[in-house]
Amino acid sequence: MRITMIGTGYVGLVSGACFADFGHDVICVDKDAAKIAALDDGIMPIFEPGLKELVATNVAAKRLSFTTDLSAGVADADAVFIAVGTPSRRGDGHADLGYVHAATREIAAALTKPTVIVTKSTVPVGTGDEVERIVAEVAPDAKAWVVSNPEFLREGAAIADFKRPDRVVVGTEDPDAIAVMEAIYRPLYLNRSALMFTGRRTAELIKYAANAFLATKITFINEIADLCEVVGADVKDVSRGIGMDNRIGSKFLHAGPGYGGSCFPKDTLALLKTAEDHDVPVRIVEAVVQVNDSRKRAMGRKVLRAMGGDPRGRRVGVLGLTFKPDTDDMRDAPSLSLIQALQDAGAVVRAYDPEGQEQASRMLKDVEFAEDAYAAAEGADALVIVTEWNAFRALDLERIAAAMNTPLLVDLRNVYHRRDVEAAGLRYQGIGRG
Ligand code: UDX
Repeated sequence: MRITMIGTGYVGLVSGACFADFGHDVICVDKDAAKIAALDDGIMPIFEPGLKELVATNVAAKRLSFTTDLSAGVADADAVFIAVGTPSRRGDGHADLGYVHAATREIAAALTKPTVIVTKSTVPVGTGDEVERIVAEVAPDAKAWVVSNPEFLREGAAIADFKRPDRVVVGTEDPDAIAVMEAIYRPLYLNRSALMFTGRRTAELIKYAANAFLATKITFINEIADLCEVVGADVKDVSRGIGMDNRIGSKFLHAGPGYGGSCFPKDTLALLKTAEDHDVPVRIVEAVVQVNDSRKRAMGRKVLRAMGGDPRGRRVGVLGLTFKPDTDDMRDAPSLSLIQALQDAGAVVRAYDPEGQEQASRMLKDVEFAEDAYAAAEGADALVIVTEWNAFRALDLERIAAAMNTPLLVDLRNVYHRRDVEAAGLRYQGIGRG
């Protein structure tokens, strides 16, 4: 199959490289000439484990190429994927479809033969209808099928998720489009993954429902963690105990500082807006959004409480800034509100993150950056694990204790056991471990 990917952001680039690896001919298009030039030189715009190598292999095999020329990319394609950004619109939380609509117009103008147009960007229900309308308006004589094919990739594990998905959801009921999509995902059949065809609006909603459900699961266990702290229970065991029930499942039950990232915050908000527009309240999702927002702010207070006394001028070491490990993505990271709360109270923050420091330095003010975890602990009155990078899982705790002014570890990801930390001479404060 000849596939063209519009947008070389996170989703477009990973999907393009993986489709090429399946054996398809893939052209990735982006308006940003500097980005395309960098990609041609093997420089990735994002940090994602394995991506650089995957791109290099498929470029060398001549299955993957990059261009700024959308028309040339679209002309020969069997399928054109729209993978441009859909950020939250300023002010109202609706998904901003400006890029999707603009890409659709350009694609429509460049069509030369029957083509499947696939929305991979996360788009509100009904966007496929709008894309179809725009195509008909711009190119009334063109033959095109508009299909929804949402992605479920986790940052940091995107390539594995793409190649071994739990399911692939394809929203179209048209037999011609189904045939093209089956051919595109045929390599997955070998892995017996589930390719699920459904109506287009249903596919669009599946993506939002999946993310809202996962955000709910996290938020649920976070609230149970708060209860654990007060009643003297351990949330890690509660999580294990309920997760072993197959009806519940063990994933996404890790209590922490609240979810962040490019998807959950934006998609839960967009789902609320869709529900509001249709006058169908989704009260659980509403509560999830509110609880998660206030949780992120509460994490600063939690650290200050553990420190006791006046925080002014005292040092806090922060380990991990990105919203999760194995990414350099800082979008809606819990570290942002945590650090703000600490600084508002007068504390001085020194932080270390294995990949996120460059991005973080653009978003944080007055934060010193350390060269490793031990340097972040130097002279500190509290050390806070905010993101569970592997590099923080086996720290030399005695060395940490010796480096600190007040040996206190606040472990917002429950990476450590209390007894190990206390044995090394540090006070320990986890999440939901009463
Ligand atoms: C998510 C979805 O998993 C993916 O399917 C979708 O396509 C995009 O959004 P991603 O944002 O990359 O992927 O990260 P994910 O691993 O899902 O984590 C999201 C946030 O939830 C992170 O801040 C993470 O720390 C937090 N989280 C996750 C928890 O606090 N506890 C958990 O048990 C799991």
